[in-house]
Amino acid sequence: MSLCELKEIRKTYRIGDEDIEVLKGITLNIEKGEFLAIMGTSGSGKTTLMNMIGCLDVPTSGSYKLTGQEVSSLDDDELSTIRNEHIGFIFQSFHLLPYATVLENVLLPTLYLDKRRHNEKELAMNLLKLVGLQDRAKFRPNQLSGGQQQRVAIARALVNEPELLLADEPTGQLDSSTAAEIMKILTEMNNKGTTVVLITHDEKTASHAKRILKISDGMLV
Ligand SMILES: Nc1ncnc2c1ncn2[C@@H]1O[C@H](COP(=O)(O)OP(=O)(O)OP(=O)(O)O)[C@@H](O)[C@H]1O
Ligand SMILES: [Mg+2]
Repeated sequence: MSLCELKEIRKTYRIGDEDIEVLKGITLNIEKGEFLAIMGTSGSGKTTLMNMIGCLDVPTSGSYKLTGQEVSSLDDDELSTIRNEHIGFIFQSFHLLPYATVLENVLLPTLYLDKRRHNEKELAMNLLKLVGLQDRAKFRPNQLSGGQQQRVAIARALVNEPELLLADEPTGQLDSSTAAEIMKILTEMNNKGTTVVLITHDEKTASHAKRILKISDGMLV
């Protein structure tokens, strides 16, 4: 069984009285432990596809099985439970809470877990250490550089120990040496067994992945 099994996924948006098909039948298996990059030009459907894989949105038609469970027909509550248990997200613009400390930001996803663990704070501190920010735990996001903020976001994405890490242009706002540091952390996580799906339009960023797929006009090519 693959971690993710997408079959003939289509996504249509209705604009006025016109239907616009953004994903045009995507069939894709993602294996456990893979490091996959999905590349494509602006508007090709990368984020829409990532939203499907990450259970942030459901397809108009087609089947999506995550760890063998069909998720394409679940409601919002069920989807958010699945996200919390299985998926960590990293976005281009970090999405940290401005008034929370670094440590509180990292702990945020644990608040929504059904099964509470007793060592969450210790786990979060270990993750901050992993991304080199153990001495910044009490800082606020605006007291950090962009690269540091993205490292906090990575620690937050990992705190629920997800099987799948989804990163949508994680280095898009960073200079090339900071971007390389972020890619190094993602590679380390993949080496430890986390499945990583990276969305990017940058060849150099994509070259860290072990498999590269291209999407063009809503279709894999
Ligand atoms: N909520 C929406 N309603 C209508 N159209 C949408 C919606 N979201 C995305 N689209 C359309 O779907 C197409 C693909 O968008 P998407 O965000 O997936 O592109 P992308 O490949 O991630 O581009 P970029 O590299 O610029 O981030 C675009 O033409 C966009 O206008
Ligand atoms: Mg996008």
